[in-house]
Amino acid sequence: MTHYAHRFSGCTVIVTGAGAGIGRATAERLAAEECRVIAVDVSAERLSALSAEVDGDIVAVTADITDPDGIGAILAAAGSRVDGLANVAGIMDGFEPTAEIADSTWDRVLAVNLTGMMKLTRAVLPIMLGRGSGSIVNVGSEAGLRGSAAGTPYTTSKHAVNGFTVSTAFFYTPKGVRCNAVAPGPVATSIEAPFRSEWGQTRLGPFLQTNVPPVARPEELAAAITWLLSDDASNVSGAILAVDGGWAAI
Ligand SMILES: NC(=O)c1ccc[n+]([C@@H]2O[C@H](COP(=O)([O-])OP(=O)(O)OC[C@H]3O[C@@H](n4cnc5c(N)ncnc54)[C@H](O)[C@@H]3O)[C@@H](O)[C@H]2O)c1
Repeated sequence: MTHYAHRFSGCTVIVTGAGAGIGRATAERLAAEECRVIAVDVSAERLSALSAEVDGDIVAVTADITDPDGIGAILAAAGSRVDGLANVAGIMDGFEPTAEIADSTWDRVLAVNLTGMMKLTRAVLPIMLGRGSGSIVNVGSEAGLRGSAAGTPYTTSKHAVNGFTVSTAFFYTPKGVRCNAVAPGPVATSIEAPFRSEWGQTRLGPFLQTNVPPVARPEELAAAITWLLSDDASNVSGAILAVDGGWAAI
C-alpha cells in the first residue's frame, strides 16, 4: 500500500455493509484505488446493484455477519491474503430508553453491531497475523461518544465498539495489525431510524434538533475509513476518530 494515488494496488479488503451507504462508498473508493474488494451485505439485491454500477475488482458475497455460515463464505471468498477489514454493517434501534427495550431489538442490535463485528474480526485476524500486517477499521458512531444520540441498545453497542477497537489495537498492534474506529455523526444513507418510544422522542428530540452538524455524504466517511485502512495511517492504532462535522467538540 505505498503508491499515493493507488494506495490499495494488489490488496484485498473486506467491507461489510457494502450494499448501501457508508459501506458502499467505502467499497467504491477502494475499487477506484485498484483494491480487490470483498463486498459483503445481507442484501443480494443491493450487492447486484453495486456490481452493476461500479467498475473494479469487486467480489460480492451475500452474507449475514451474525451467521457462522456467512462468516465462512466471506473467508472463502477472501482467500489467503487480507490486507484490510472495514466493519461497516450496522443497524439502528428505535430510540428506546432502557425500560422500553424489547428483547428482540436488544438482541439484534447487539448481534449485528457488536457480536458480528467481533466474530468476523476473530476469523480474519489469523490471516493478517500470518503475514504480520493488516488494518481493521470499525464503524462506531457519535452515539458511542455520548448518551444523547440514539436509544439505549444502539448507544450501548457503539460504546462497546470503541472498547472492542482499543482492546484489539492493544493486543495486536505489536504484531503489525492496527485497529481503529470512526465515529460518524449524521450521514445521508438508507439506515432506518424510526422513533418507537414517546419518551425517547420527547427526551432526545431537543438534542437531535439543536447542535447537530449538517448531514454528511457517505463519501466523506469513506475517505476517513480508507485513510485508516491505508499505510498513510501506519502510526495510527487504537484511535476513535470522530468524523462528525465537529459534533463531538460541542
Ligand atoms: N447514517 C448515519 O447517520 C450513521 C451515523 C453514525 C453511525 N453510522 C453507522 O454506519 C454504519 C453504516 O450505516 P449506514 O448509515 O451506511 O447504513 P445503511 O443501512 O445505508 O447501510 C448498511 C448496510 O449494512 C447491511 N447490513 C445490515 N445488517 C447486516 C448484517 N447482519 N450482515 C451484513 N450486512 C448487513 C444493510 O443491508 C445495508 O446495506 C453502521 O454501523 C451505522 O451504525 C451511521
